[in-house]
Amino acid sequence: MDEETRLRVAVIIGSTRQGRAGGAVGEWFVAHARRRGDVDVDVLDLLDFDFPARLPHEPTSAMRRFSASVDRAEAFVVVTPEYNRSFPASLKQAIDYAYDEWQTKPVGFVSYGTRSLGTYAVEALRSVFTELHTVTMRDGVGIDLLSGEGQGSDAHHRAATAMLDELAWWGLALREARTRRPYVA
Ligand SMILES: Cc1cc2nc3c(=O)[nH]c(=O)nc-3n(C[C@H](O)[C@H](O)[C@H](O)COP(=O)(O)O)c2cc1C
Repeated sequence: MDEETRLRVAVIIGSTRQGRAGGAVGEWFVAHARRRGDVDVDVLDLLDFDFPARLPHEPTSAMRRFSASVDRAEAFVVVTPEYNRSFPASLKQAIDYAYDEWQTKPVGFVSYGTRSLGTYAVEALRSVFTELHTVTMRDGVGIDLLSGEGQGSDAHHRAATAMLDELAWWGLALREARTRRPYVA
């Protein structure tokens, strides 16, 4: 598939915690996604963005770089841990830096936790991404960090494939829709 046709997918790695598990989870998922011929993967690791501690009047260069990357992408996969039945503050901070740039694009999730598979984090994110006029994927990857097998089991690969199949379908359908008629919002 040529570069024009392949879907531009941004994988957002949401944890910036020291000693995070998220880096390894993200690396596994990105390697899985890059084996497909129908997507181009851009990694947006929030560790690589030096965001300000307080929301400034004017966006900083890191904020602009993040929202420009969101704008360029046609679909997203958010890699998120669960913190106290939700997702981490680092991720909310970044999501809030863009608005129109998210609109009319699909979002899939890779979640993980030690007491759950990150399900509460994903449900909280669905609500946020609904506000941003995105479409969230029904199926995702949920990883139990305490299971001993970490990420990358056969079941995780199957789940990642199913989620990316849905994401690719929506991504191409919405790409076409955007060229046909302006979005209503
Ligand atoms: C503040 C905090 C809250 C947490 N709350 C939950 C939780 O509600 N459910 C869960 O399954 N795991 C919870 N955990 C465990 C994390 O999912 C686990 O530490 C994971 O490694 C965090 O992702 P990270 O290492 O990429 O930051 C919590 C961890 C932290 C640091």
